[in-house]
Amino acid sequence: MMRLDKYLAERTGMTRSESRKAVKKGRVMVGGMVCRKADTQLDEHTAEVALDGTPLAGAYQAFVYIMLNKPTDTVSTTEDDPKSVMKLLPPEFSRMDMFPCGRLDIDTTGLLIITNDGQTAHNLLSPKKHVMKTYRYGLDLPLDAEGKRALELGADIGGYVTSPAQIAPDGALSGEITISEGKFHQIKRMFAAVGCKVVSLERISFGPLKLDPALGRGEWRYLTEDEISSITKEESV
Ligand code: URA
Repeated sequence: MMRLDKYLAERTGMTRSESRKAVKKGRVMVGGMVCRKADTQLDEHTAEVALDGTPLAGAYQAFVYIMLNKPTDTVSTTEDDPKSVMKLLPPEFSRMDMFPCGRLDIDTTGLLIITNDGQTAHNLLSPKKHVMKTYRYGLDLPLDAEGKRALELGADIGGYVTSPAQIAPDGALSGEITISEGKFHQIKRMFAAVGCKVVSLERISFGPLKLDPALGRGEWRYLTEDEISSITKEESV
């Protein structure tokens, strides 16, 4: 038998005191019921414990997948930087070796996946997999028909010609762009190649995942079971 706070600390990377706080806040379920008593004794071999709705299985932590709505003025790094997106998440996630899956620029907002599943992150980011990413853009100058056609054919962003992009304008200064690559500052450089400056950029989808409209900037949630299987199944990405 083992105390609940000890059990949590061993399986999640939280400290004992963080575990006790998580229990007090009602984040922990034992056998399907919220349990607010950290000194609850449980059988560590058979207990069914969930943190924030995610079951903690086995002696080793399961993979964790989070969707963050990244705000501006944050950086997609795990380094101990005050602007790191990891600072928006509970501290135990950093100790669980979680990391942002790919990078968004400091001024780019929207969908960022944070996980400790290296293989899935690799699949989502590998240039060979051509995972589609859609961004909402805002521009300083109108994108004309010629510029749009150039981006749809592939733009020279300085020694590299991008793959064809899909553009769905909703006016001359804004719309959605879908690309399958992930070069450094790719979208800003693509629009710059046709004479426009990007003044706002928000990622709204990444492969099969869509930014949850219920998430405000800086808010996060766990991926659902369906979302997890959509990115972890071999054939999906
Ligand atoms: N393209 C950019 O220019 N910036 C991003 O953050 C993502 C894609």
